[in-house]
Amino acid sequence: MKPLLIAANWKMHKTAAEAKAYFKEFWPLANGVKGKLIVLCVPFTCLHALAPLVQKTTVCLGAQDVHFGEEGAFTGEISPRMLTETGASYVIVGHSERRKLFHEDDELVNKKLHAAISHGLKPIFCVGESLEQRNQGKEKKVVASQVLNGLKGISWPSLRNVSIAYEPVWAIGTGVAATPKQAGEMHTFIREVLEKEFGQDAAKAIPLLYGGSVKTDNIKELTSLEDVDGALVGGASLDAEKFSELISNA
Ligand code: 13P
Repeated sequence: MKPLLIAANWKMHKTAAEAKAYFKEFWPLANGVKGKLIVLCVPFTCLHALAPLVQKTTVCLGAQDVHFGEEGAFTGEISPRMLTETGASYVIVGHSERRKLFHEDDELVNKKLHAAISHGLKPIFCVGESLEQRNQGKEKKVVASQVLNGLKGISWPSLRNVSIAYEPVWAIGTGVAATPKQAGEMHTFIREVLEKEFGQDAAKAIPLLYGGSVKTDNIKELTSLEDVDGALVGGASLDAEKFSELISNA
C-alpha cells in the first residue's frame, strides 16, 4: 500500500529561527510514525534553515510557489532551480490563495507545473471550487476544468511526480471541512477525470490529497476514504505537537 502523504502548508508563518525550533520539537514526536510520508511546505526563507535538519530524517521539504522561468527580470520571484538547490523536493502550485489574492489563472498554473516537473520538483497541484460555485451545483465542472487546464500538455509518465490536492475554498481556514461524503465524491470524480484523460496507470498512481480544515479529530475519517491518499494541512500544521498527533491519527 502507498504511504499516506501528509503535507503541511505553513503559508506565511514562521521565521527561519522559528522553523528550526519547530522541527527540533516535531521530529522526535513524528519519528517512528509508520506508513506516512511527511512533507513540510514552508516559506522560501525557511528552506535553507531546515534543509540540514531534515537531511537525516524521512521528512521532505517543499515550497509554496515557484516561478515558471529559468531566470530573468522577475522581481521577487523564485525559480525552480533556486528551489531544488535548497533541498526542496516538493512545491505547492495553484493554491486557491494564490489564485484569488495574486490572480493566478489556469494558464499560469499550467506553466508553473511544466516548469516544476521539468526540474524534477514534485508539484502538489491545488484545485477546488468556491462556495458560490458549489451552491450553483458547478463544483465538478469547475474542478474538472482546473485539473485539465492545469495539466494541459503534460502526460503520463511525466505526471508520476504530481499530486493533486482537492481544497474546496469554503473549507480553507473556516473550521468547516468537507464532509466525508463531499470529499469522497469529489476525489472519486477527479480519479475518473484523470483516467479518462491520462489513462488508468496515471489515475491510479496520482495521489489525491484533501485540504481544508483538516484537524486531529477529522483526519482519520477523511484519509480512510477510498480515493483520499493524504492531506494538505494549513492551520493545524503550525504547532509541532498538534501536527505530529494529526499525523499519527491519519
Ligand atoms: P486550513 O487547514 O488552515 O484550512 O488550510 C488549508 C490549506 O489551505 C492548505 O493548503
